[in-house]
Amino acid sequence: MTDLDSLRTTYLARVADAADAGMLEEVRLAALGKKGEISLKMRELGRMTPEERQTTGAALNRLKDEIDAALRAKKTALDDAALDERLRGEWLDVTLPGRPRPAGTIHPVSQVTEEVTAIFADMGFAVAEGPQVESDWFNFDALNIPPEHPARQEHDTFFMHRAEGDDRPPHVLRTHTSPVQIRAMQETGAPIRVIAPGRVYRMDMDQTHTPMFHQVEGLAIGRDISMANLKWTLEEFCRAFFELDEVELRFRASHFPFTEPSAEVDIRCSWEGGTLKLGQGDSWLEILGSGMVHPKVLQAGGIDPTKWQGFAFGMGIDRIAMLKYGIPDLRAFFESDLRWLRHYGFAAGDVPSVAGGLSR
Ligand code: DAH
Repeated sequence: MTDLDSLRTTYLARVADAADAGMLEEVRLAALGKKGEISLKMRELGRMTPEERQTTGAALNRLKDEIDAALRAKKTALDDAALDERLRGEWLDVTLPGRPRPAGTIHPVSQVTEEVTAIFADMGFAVAEGPQVESDWFNFDALNIPPEHPARQEHDTFFMHRAEGDDRPPHVLRTHTSPVQIRAMQETGAPIRVIAPGRVYRMDMDQTHTPMFHQVEGLAIGRDISMANLKWTLEEFCRAFFELDEVELRFRASHFPFTEPSAEVDIRCSWEGGTLKLGQGDSWLEILGSGMVHPKVLQAGGIDPTKWQGFAFGMGIDRIAMLKYGIPDLRAFFESDLRWLRHYGFAAGDVPSVAGGLSR
């Protein structure tokens, strides 16, 4: 029996020493595998006398069970240790605060510019651009505002410096997007349908004026484009932009040097309870200037006014953004106050489209 005792001691020790599943399997094969020591001993039972077989057989079975149990217990212990090790490695503190949401938002001016562009693109208008530092010819003369014209004073223009001794008229920071009309006509000729959103500059500052602000210009020239087309286009635009079923526009006779006739356009609204509501009510709010392009302006753009005609309009982007999104003070648009931007900003990736929704 000392034979079995030493087998027992050896294998229980080897089980205890096994450091991983691979080593443990080696021990199992060495003891209980087909050619394992204990299996071989079992085979010897056949050559024993019945009495011997009874006692040795029982002892061998007990030994086999004991080693088998030790192997299983060790396997469980090794698995537990491996799991503990993995959990330690992948440990996560679920009490940590969550990740902050991305801080950036789309500025209302960018959002509204995209919205306006989407609506007019749907009506066949391309986007045109021009420089913000503009010659006085493009900003004024070409738009039928000669040097002595009173409109020049009304524009509160910022002038660029000329070098000493350079007597040419100074460049200006463009006071409106209208000069882009001239540039677009010169580039494309007629027929043409463009809008021109962008920055403009005037020396002015109060709750509804900042020295830099944004306008969008519209221009449509064809053989027989009329005031009626202008009216339809602007009504369609307002319905889409303000996301209203019913809008009512009022065309009020006005004067701009670059259009004849000219009209300022008001939208019906109410101020009930101190809050502005567009589309219904007894009040009117001015939203843009417009008219039929003056023959001299067509000429400056290189287009023959005896063959072509069309409309133009100019609208304040910041202003319609304030109206649509209920933003009370224009100055806050340009103060880069993060609290303001988080409140009034739009989620990045929500690209406005006429079909998919403008401001959802
Ligand atoms: N340029 C004008 C302004 O800044 C707005 C304007 C009025 C543009 C009438 C136009 C127009 O194209 O036809 O006040």
